[in-house]
Amino acid sequence: MSETFAVSVDDVSKSFGAFQALNGITLHVRRGEIYGLLGPNGAGKTTLIRLICGLLETKSGSVTVLGQRMPQVAVLRHIGYMTQQAALYPGLSVEENVRFFAAINGAEDGVKEALELVQLYERRASVVATLSGGMRQRCSLACALVHRPELLLLDEPTVGIDPQLRVQFWEAFRRMAADGTTMIVSSHVMDEADRCQRLGLIQYGRLLAEGSPSDIRAQGGSPNLEEAFLALAGRSES
Ligand SMILES: Nc1ncnc2c1ncn2[C@@H]1O[C@H](COP(=O)(O)OP(=O)(O)O)[C@@H](O)[C@H]1O
Ligand SMILES: [Mg+2]
Repeated sequence: MSETFAVSVDDVSKSFGAFQALNGITLHVRRGEIYGLLGPNGAGKTTLIRLICGLLETKSGSVTVLGQRMPQVAVLRHIGYMTQQAALYPGLSVEENVRFFAAINGAEDGVKEALELVQLYERRASVVATLSGGMRQRCSLACALVHRPELLLLDEPTVGIDPQLRVQFWEAFRRMAADGTTMIVSSHVMDEADRCQRLGLIQYGRLLAEGSPSDIRAQGGSPNLEEAFLALAGRSES
């Protein structure tokens, strides 16, 4: 089982005080696939991603990543995490930021390749505070992948960036997946869902459905993914 799945989430619940953010989530991400974690704001996507990378813990259910029961510090080296809000040092240059994340993971030799992948090599000397939002997103992505992680967790990586850059991001994701990287990409919109091999739809901390985009269309009874999602969400409420 652990051979085919990069990530197994089994019956995971997570509460913050009296509020239950995740409620019995079970999902499985295969090695080398791009898995889309889709759901509206507040669905629990970020909470789930934090549990997967071991930043959050729960006693309810289990999370297994790359064959290890989480949380497990040793697994972190094999994970890249791009947070929803770009976490960069604004006073450092693009290259210094990427080099910093590379150094933490003993992967300084990957800096140039990471900068080229996100097409920031020419801008590597620019101070992050002076960059546009899109460039910061690209710099964040470079920081998350510079150590060539086996599993890349991307929390809403394309929110607020222009369509052209989105295309570039997805090209980069596809290249990484082709190289064997497993990717979990969260989004609160459906328009990128077809770029994923499989999807997990979540709402109110529950998994509504899991499968390929065509599976989801069939399960929701609509050729339109947005409508299929709404149909599945409606069914779970009734
Ligand atoms: N540290 C926290 N303390 C209290 N509530 C939280 C915390 N983190 C998330 N939540 C709540 O859990 C729910 C799910 O949040 P989140 O995982 O960020 O959703 P999403 O990423 O899908 O928008 C939200 O209602 C949010 O307010
Ligand atoms: Mg979120």
